[in-house]
Amino acid sequence: MRLRCAPNERRACTGDDTSELGYLTGMIEPTSIESVYAPEARAVVYPGDCLDLLSSIPAGSARLVVTSPPYNIGKEYETRRGLDEYIADQTAVIRECVRVLSASGSLCWQVGNHVVNGTVVPLDIVLYPVFADAGMLLRNRIIWHFEHGLHCTRRLSGRYETVMWFTKTDQYVFNLDPIRVPQKYPGKKQYKGPRAGEYSCNPLGKNPGDVWVIPNVKCNHVEKTEHPCQFPVELIERLVLALTEPGDLVIDPYMGTGTTAIAAIRHGRRAVGAEIVPKYVELARDRITKEMLGVLRTRPMDRPVYDPRDAGRSLTTAPWLRTDAMRTLFSDDSLGNP
Ligand SMILES: C[S@@+](CC[C@H](N)C(=O)[O-])C[C@H]1O[C@@H](n2cnc3c(N)ncnc32)[C@H](O)[C@@H]1O
Repeated sequence: MRLRCAPNERRACTGDDTSELGYLTGMIEPTSIESVYAPEARAVVYPGDCLDLLSSIPAGSARLVVTSPPYNIGKEYETRRGLDEYIADQTAVIRECVRVLSASGSLCWQVGNHVVNGTVVPLDIVLYPVFADAGMLLRNRIIWHFEHGLHCTRRLSGRYETVMWFTKTDQYVFNLDPIRVPQKYPGKKQYKGPRAGEYSCNPLGKNPGDVWVIPNVKCNHVEKTEHPCQFPVELIERLVLALTEPGDLVIDPYMGTGTTAIAAIRHGRRAVGAEIVPKYVELARDRITKEMLGVLRTRPMDRPVYDPRDAGRSLTTAPWLRTDAMRTLFSDDSLGNP
């Protein structure tokens, strides 16, 4: 069983002699992070181009590749290019990801839109043929819905992105139980037939479906760093739990702040990723180390989405709809009537 360190036990887990001894005797898991691919490593953060990392990994090594690539929208870490050039670059990386995937493995590509002069190009639609040509089989196109983002003035504000989940073959790992969510009517009973009177739904919960409502990492989200587009850890935890087994290798070719690695390590999997921007490499290493020490703060997977009305926040009622405010607003005095 995994031992996680409480904050006050930090010294014993930071790579000093005690930690090494604990690791060797199987009592404490190691906190070291490798910089190049090593098959036995618990975590690898490769500081460089993902194609270089992927080419060093033997075929069939990973049970899951999950990532969010650059969208070619001019973020600080990308040079905006023509769509054809972008697709050609993505094709090279996707082919390598397919090569390193095991026969029972899954590949999840999380994307939003590329926007040119206000015109939207949905990247999942553009990239789907690349996966199909590589023989990948689409299992779900998961809609990830969130409530924060830019407020558009000439089109509807974007409030979802997609995760394309592909498998390499028909024999793939899929564990539904660890990702079940609470039933809507857990007390409902069968009203006829041989099971009449028994509870009708699975007590472990229901299938989460293919529309996932998970807050994105903006503003005061507990996981926010200086990176402009982090995954929430809980989004990747679901994929790791459903699509891998303990001990499996999970790869993120565009790892950013290391979110995929954090989710993988949290659930006893091994993690490998590449990141090209040095400050994000440092962030990823820092967050992964904290996760290994059990001190990284994240939003729990089972926490309901915050609803300010349920929380009794006064700002949820428009002042002009409050009875007393209405009275003041429309009183003869305020309208300037004698
Ligand atoms: C959309 S972000 C991913 C963020 C990540 N999912 C997280 O939770 O932090 C894409 C990342 O890929 C990195 N990147 C861009 N091109 C790369 C390349 N060729 N190799 C490795 N990383 C790259 C960028 O610097 C950026 O941090």
